[in-house]
Formats: sequence, structure tokens, C-alpha cells
Amino acid sequence: MAEDIKKGLLGIVVDETEVSKVMPEINSLTYRGYAAQDLCAKCKFEEVAYLILNGELPSEKQLKNFEKVERKERNLSKTLLESIKNFPKKSHPMDVARTAVSIMGLEDKETKDNSSEANLRKVMRIFAKTPVALAAFYRIRKGKKIIKPKSSLSFSENFFYMCFGKVPEKEIVKAFDVSLILYAEHSFNVSTFTARTITSSLSDIHGAITGAIASLKGPLHGGANEEVMHMMNKIKKPENALNWINNALDQKAVVMGFGHRVYKSGDSRVPTMREYFSKVAKVKKDKKFEKIYDIVEKVMIERKNIHPNVDYPTGPTYHLMGFDTDFFTPIFVISRITGWSAHILEQHAANKLIRPLASYKGSGYRKVVPLNQR
Ligand code: CMC
Repeated sequence: MAEDIKKGLLGIVVDETEVSKVMPEINSLTYRGYAAQDLCAKCKFEEVAYLILNGELPSEKQLKNFEKVERKERNLSKTLLESIKNFPKKSHPMDVARTAVSIMGLEDKETKDNSSEANLRKVMRIFAKTPVALAAFYRIRKGKKIIKPKSSLSFSENFFYMCFGKVPEKEIVKAFDVSLILYAEHSFNVSTFTARTITSSLSDIHGAITGAIASLKGPLHGGANEEVMHMMNKIKKPENALNWINNALDQKAVVMGFGHRVYKSGDSRVPTMREYFSKVAKVKKDKKFEKIYDIVEKVMIERKNIHPNVDYPTGPTYHLMGFDTDFFTPIFVISRITGWSAHILEQHAANKLIRPLASYKGSGYRKVVPLNQR
């Protein structure tokens, strides 16, 4: 008799966590008890990164110290920089992020030390260096000179500066910061579960984050923000949107940026990101994507009762900010490093090897026939 299979671990609770929760009483994603949208309104990304990693919001002094460490660690080794210069220009930046973190693991003096103190030090290095590695690749593949990080700039400002050579309007920086806050953590999603699974064999944090990046790349997870932009580019103009989405649904297509395993009546991050998408569109004086956005969303809700997830507004927002589409998911990475790391620390603190079972449906027992008799 076949065992009771829970494909996709649907509805299975596999462990406890203190990092985040979608709280039904406020219908919102919360980090360490704080609503993500409240954090967006009152904090900068670095404060939220500190909260996710350390459990509490920082005092001014603690934030200053956290920022000091992050800014100090923003340098890449010669080997890593040379490697990035030699990566194929056509590489997907997610593969660049994955390989860069892997190389950081080769170089880190504390790779083998899984104590929480060493892990926190390693997190700060991965957190600070990954955006620098990505921005370097951003420039290199365009044939442009690499821009060194600037320690006077915040995390978000510095990323813009290293990619584009300048810091944009403060509304744009705030919208980017908000997107990083909203992307920072989401409990046992597939990439976080991957990181925890790797950690559960007592492997190291660089390996766990490398695996998590590979997992995030998929279009059913982080890759959806890129797919949303491909969809909007196919639609081209608002006048085409209604026909396009109706045809897609007639053909039973999966529409990227919609649906969620946890939220069935709307992702609590979407209203905040939608608001900042609008602010960015206003600064950029480009309302085209907002119009397409609204039409597709309306049809998805009317015809399927499926609501947008956070990847739906972030895709066109990053596009308006000037990022290449294949950099959208890597931006998700530079934020989610915080959530993954908090889970890796939590897994180490109360570890149990993750080892589920499978229901075997292969051939019954048989004897090996030697090669010359087959
Ligand atoms: N477009 C069209 N139909 C959909 C969609 C969608 N985006 N999402 C769900 N459905 C339908 C699905 O076809 C199924 O219909 P039926 O019962 O007739 O077969 C029903 O809704 C239930 O969907 P499901 O795929 O069984 O639900 P799930 O919880 O396994 O999947 C999901 C969740 C995110 C994989 C899925 O909604 C999806 O593929 N969405 C598009 C990709 C996407 O936007 N991913 C980002 C997720 S959120 C951010 C992140 O984690 O990175």
C-alpha cells in the first residue's frame, strides 16, 4: 500500500523558527514580531538586516557598529575579482552570485568554524561582499570600468553607485531599500529550506548560501521577478494587456508574479511595494508599466481569484530604476542573505539531520546479469 505522500511537503511543519511568521491576526508577514510594512516605514534596510540576524532592532550605537563592519568588509580579494573578470560575459548573474559566494568560502579563514560567533562574522563578509561582486560583474559585462565601493554610502546607495557610477534620487534609494526589506526573509520557503537542509549535515555557511542561491534562481521562486518583466515586455503597451492576459489564461498558462504557497488571498508585501513602484514611476515619468500592471492584476483576480505576490511589483520597479532584467533576482539574493543566515544559525543551534523518506515505486528485486550476457 502506498504511503501517505506529501508532495512538495505541502502543509508539513518540519521545525520551529523565531525568525519570521505570517501572522493571521494582522494578515501580515512579520520579522521577529514586527510587521514588514511597519519596518519599511520606519527603518532603513541595515536596521532590518540587524534585526533578522540578531533578534532585536539595533540601538543607534549598535547600528553604527553594524554599518562599520559591513562597510569595512566591502572589499573583494584579488582572486575573486580576477575570477569575476574571467567569468563568461553571458553568465547569468545568479550563477555569478552563486560562484562568488563559493569562492569566498575557499578564501575565508573561518570556513570550517561553525560556531555562531564565527558564523556571524562570515555572514557579515558574505553580506558585504556579494553586492560588490555582482556590481563588478554588472560593469565588466558592459565593458565598463569596475567602481570600487564607497564607505560613506549606505548599503543601497553603494549598490547603485557601484552599478551606475552615481546615487539616484532619494525616492529611488528608499524604494530600493523597501524592496530589500520586503525580500529579506520569508520562513521555510524553498531556498531557506535548502540552506537549512545543507546546514543540517553540519556543512558550512558558504555552502548553505551557495545552495540557497541556486534554489532562489528558479522561476517558481525568486526568478519570478525577472519573468514578470519578460511578460511586461511581451505585452509592450497597456492597449495589449487585456487580450494578452485573457489569451494566457485561456491557454492555462502560469502567470508569473501571481499566486503563493502561503498567501491565498494576497501577499501582505504587495501593497507596500505597489506604493513604491508608483513613486518610482512618478520620478521616472513612466506610467506605462503601472497601467499594464493594473490590467493584468484585475483580470487575474476576476477570472482566477489569484492575487499578485511581491515579485509582481518589484520586477517593473527594478526595471524603472535602470537595472538589467537578469539582475532582479540577484538583488533578491543580496537581501535574502540575511534571512538565510538567520535560519542557518538557528539550524546549527538546534540541529537535527533533515532526512525525509520516499515511497519506492521502482523495479522489484532482481539479480545482476553480467555484461557479456545482457
Ligand atoms: N497563474 C495561473 N494559475 C495559477 C498561478 C499562476 N501564477 N498560481 C497558481 N495557479 C493555479 C494553479 O494552476 C492551480 O490550478 P489547478 O488547481 O486548476 O491546477 C491552482 O492555482 C493552485 O496552484 P498551485 O501551483 O498548486 O499552488 P502552489 O501553492 O503549489 O504554488 C506557486 C504556488 C508560487 C508555485 C504558484 O502560484 C506559481 O507557480 N506562481 C507563479 C510563479 C511565481 O510568481 N513565483 C513567486 C512566488 S512568491 C515569491 C518567492 O517565493 O520568490
